[in-house]
Order: sequence, then C-alpha cells, then structure tokens
Amino acid sequence: MRILHIIATPRGSESHSLRVSEAFLKGVCEQSDDVTVDVVDLYNHDLPAMAGDNIETKYTLMVGRPIDRGHEESWRQVESLIEHFVSADAYLITAPMWNFGVPYALKYYIDCVVQPGYLFRYDETGQVVPMVNGKRMVCVTSRGADYSAGTYLHPYDFQEPYLRAIFGFVGITDLQFIHAQPMDITPHQREAALTGAVAQARDLGKGFLAPAVGAAA
Ligand SMILES: Cc1cc2nc3c(=O)[nH]c(=O)nc-3n(C[C@H](O)[C@H](O)[C@H](O)COP(=O)(O)O)c2cc1C
Repeated sequence: MRILHIIATPRGSESHSLRVSEAFLKGVCEQSDDVTVDVVDLYNHDLPAMAGDNIETKYTLMVGRPIDRGHEESWRQVESLIEHFVSADAYLITAPMWNFGVPYALKYYIDCVVQPGYLFRYDETGQVVPMVNGKRMVCVTSRGADYSAGTYLHPYDFQEPYLRAIFGFVGITDLQFIHAQPMDITPHQREAALTGAVAQARDLGKGFLAPAVGAAA
C-alpha cells in the first residue's frame, strides 16, 4: 500500500498535528513491511501557478476543449502533481486549523490537483462524476481551541466540512478525522488532548490495513 502524506503545517518537529500523524503512520507500518509513505511537504514544495497559462487551461478543460499547444508545457507540472496524487492507495492529511479552515498551502494544493477530466468530470446531463473512487483518507487536524460537537465554537469549524466536501466531490468519501484540540488554552489541556489524539491515531493506524467487515476476500 502506498500512502500519500500531505503535510500542511510549517512547524516541523514543533507541530502538534504532525506528532499525531506520526503515531498513525507508526501504527500502520508496524502491521506490514509492504507500506510506502510518500510525502508532499507543502511548505517545502513549489506548486505550479494556478494563474496565467494554467488558469486558461483549466477553463479550456472545463468546457471539454483540447489544451492549447502553447499551454501544454506549463500544464505538465499540474499533470505530474495530479498523477502523484492519484497514484496513492490512501491519503493522510496533516493540517492545523487556520482561521477556521485549512492553511492556505493546503487550499493551494487542492486548487492545483482538483481538475476537470482528472479528478472529476461532468456527464452529458451536467452531473458531476467523481473519478477517484474507493480510496480512504485520514485527516489529522489540530486546533488552538476546542471545536467538538456541542461546544460554542463547533459552528465555526469549516475545516472538517470543507475537507469532507472537496474530497467527497472527487470520490473520496471514506474519511476519518482525528482532531487534537484544544492546543493553545493551557499546557495541561494540550498535553491531555495530544495524549488522547496520539492514542486514537495509533489505534486507527494499527487497524488501517485490516479488511473492512463484509469486504470480498
Ligand atoms: C495563521 C494561524 C491561524 C490560526 N487559526 C486558528 C483558528 O482559527 N482556530 C484555532 O482554534 N486555532 C487557530 N490557530 C492555532 C493552531 O490551529 C494550533 O496552534 C495548532 O495546534 C497548530 O498545529 P501545528 O502545530 O500542527 O501547526 C491558528 C494558528 C495560526 C498560525
């Protein structure tokens, strides 16, 4: 199995979310030698522009027309990012909450890879047809405050609903979330929440390769 780990925190070894993701990956890798983890570290990775030639290509593709010859070379960079994305068997996203949503680097990555004709298409009736089907995604987030169901901040969580919406749109509907929260209220709350999230991540990782109940052998 090839897991694509998309890292959307710039904090490296100081990162709360990364600490949780590493526990998940450790749990998975302990179960099998046949796991490869590919990393896209978004704050150390140049992404192609979603402007200029590439934005014109996107609009060309949206109306089902062939790519302009002069735009092909630039579009190859977008295609190689998409190829890398779709070649994975499963996904791990590591993302802090930034201003109630995802960090801009993750939004930029999504703007690059979610392209018509590659991750989704429209059928003849104008309905969206997702093109990345049957793959799983684990999203590890961390937040300064607590956005759990029932808290007054819960309605401000645009991160989980957005990730569910955009990846569901392209066919990834099996998403599991681990939220480390609250990270920035008191050190005691942070440690307790991190300990809980790390344990949850390790358990999810340990069971990740087990066949789903009812799956064909
Ligand atoms: C630019 C920025 C925006 C943030 N916005 C929020 C926010 O809207 N809500 C929140 O609870 N925490 C917010 N935080 C705090 C982070 O989500 C929190 O510290 C998180 O644990 C950081 O994760 P990391 O260590 O993996 O990067 C923000 C932090 C930064 C740097």
